Amino acid sequence: MGENRMVVVTGGASGIGRATALRFAAAGDRVVVADINPGAAEEVVAEIEADGGQARVHDVDVALDASVDTLAEAAGEAEVLVNSAGLLQNISEIESLDMAEHDRLWAVNYRGSLLCARAFARTMAARGGGGSIVNISSTSAVAAFPLHAYGPGKAAIDRLTAILASDLGPKGIRVNAVMPGYVLTEQMRARIASGHRDPTMMERQSSLGRMVAPAEIADAIHFLCSDAARAITGVSLPVDAGWLAHVTYRQHPGFAGTN
Ligand SMILES: NC(=O)c1ccc[n+]([C@@H]2O[C@H](COP(=O)([O-])OP(=O)(O)OC[C@H]3O[C@@H](n4cnc5c(N)ncnc54)[C@H](O)[C@@H]3O)[C@@H](O)[C@H]2O)c1
Repeated sequence: MGENRMVVVTGGASGIGRATALRFAAAGDRVVVADINPGAAEEVVAEIEADGGQARVHDVDVALDASVDTLAEAAGEAEVLVNSAGLLQNISEIESLDMAEHDRLWAVNYRGSLLCARAFARTMAARGGGGSIVNISSTSAVAAFPLHAYGPGKAAIDRLTAILASDLGPKGIRVNAVMPGYVLTEQMRARIASGHRDPTMMERQSSLGRMVAPAEIADAIHFLCSDAARAITGVSLPVDAGWLAHVTYRQHPGFAGTN
């Protein structure tokens, strides 16, 4: 069994957050499934309990300061925070960019991660016992996609991760990010179904010729929060089936490969 830590996973009701909640609970940690969709969070908690794990739901909107502060108070002993609450974006051109969508994305993805880190940095420091925070970046933080709100927001999360690691390191709190490639989550399935993402293209652009499973992101998050990663802080770890390597490789003039 694990260390019986209290672990808070925002966005824990779905996708990467759900897989992360299941991963920590399976290793013996107590998980707070914090989400704006408490109904779906209840289902994750039921799944964890059916497997003999411990979890509870917390209804939170990470875009709201008071809501995040209430979460941090309710989970005051948390040693691990995973900021997985987030929104994806449909591709657009700058001329037609919807600024309401832009602002909501920044409010949830970037500002929500910052707010949660601030709230839990306070409770972790007050406990004096160190801790671990993991943010969710994206390959769109380091490569150009037609996602004018989402990509820059993820680049900001990478920068924030390094800043927080420096800020909180002396208090024994490590801060890292995972940088997922294309992950088959509910949001991604919906975008494939509506024609906004091409699954064949996403598979062929990766070295391993496939997309990433949510559980594979969860494994990387679990590692970053484990003692095995005790000297790792301030990094954004790609978990992308080799997308970052392969996407430029296969573009090289004269490349005759089939994938
Ligand atoms: N799916 C991918 O391919 C992919 C790739 C790179 C990065 N990511 C990132 O992973 C994170 C999780 O995305 P996912 O694909 O698992 O999506 P998802 O929709 O499956 O899960 C997101 C969860 O966040 C919750 N949520 C949304 N807004 C919230 C708010 N204001 N407060 C609290 N909870 C809120 C949703 O209810 C949902 O349960 C996001 O930051 C996303 O940008 C996803």
